[in-house]
Amino acid sequence: MKPFIVLRDLTKDYNGKVRGLDGLCLEIYPGEWVAVMGPSGSGKTTLLNMIAAMDQPTAGSIYVNGVDLLSLTEEERARFRREKAGLIFQQFHLIPYLTTIENVMLAQYFHSMADREEAAHALQEVGLGERMRHYPSELSGGEQQRVCIARALINQPKIILADEPTGNLDAENEKTVMGIFHRLHDAGHTLLFVTHDPQIGIQADRTIELEHGRIVPALSTKGPVLSSFG
Ligand SMILES: Nc1ncnc2c1ncn2[C@@H]1O[C@H](COP(=O)(O)OP(=O)(O)OP(=O)(O)O)[C@@H](O)[C@H]1O
Ligand SMILES: [Mg+2]
Repeated sequence: MKPFIVLRDLTKDYNGKVRGLDGLCLEIYPGEWVAVMGPSGSGKTTLLNMIAAMDQPTAGSIYVNGVDLLSLTEEERARFRREKAGLIFQQFHLIPYLTTIENVMLAQYFHSMADREEAAHALQEVGLGERMRHYPSELSGGEQQRVCIARALINQPKIILADEPTGNLDAENEKTVMGIFHRLHDAGHTLLFVTHDPQIGIQADRTIELEHGRIVPALSTKGPVLSSFG
């Protein structure tokens, strides 16, 4: 099987000073669920941003499904983000003056055409069928996170990138959200998932640990050892 995501010697320097990633090499296979762990500042969010074409590396290469992301124009990168990558951010990034369903429909709008029924279906999927007319400020943290998941899933992205999606959730909401990720995994989506919680990380096919922008070799576990280390 060919890897779906290939990162080669990926380095990211911020302002020419702070090193976010340091020669990182990683291969992720289609349908694989990878948990990304590591201390604060180790480069987890930077890594997700690179794969989502949100930001560009200082050096190295990124291939997704055989496409060299760094060869794309700004417009093509925007299309890649809309069509291929579903992002669930560390912060919720919901628009405060739009209702739950409008927030989800906004993601559809950027993709193609807003479709209220489809947005409603996505919200039902994450258990928020009853909260569609509420504003973000009227929702709990777990509910807001589930709106973000519905929004990320609306375009059926191949890759789902989630930055600590359970970080602010209580046990019950965490269970609901993890159930959604298990369903997505079963449906064949490729998942990259940042977490600080080993109990969450162990649910993935594989865990990688970052430290100072590099992968710590010892912790590649469970399934086959698929990554090469930088
Ligand atoms: N926009 C930026 N400008 C300058 N430095 C940045 C920027 N974004 C991240 N960094 C730095 O790059 C390093 C990696 O940051 P990153 O956000 O990827 O860490 P993280 O592993 O996601 O941490 P956390 O667990 O706290 O979210 C850190 O030292 C951080 O300060
Ligand atoms: Mg982060």
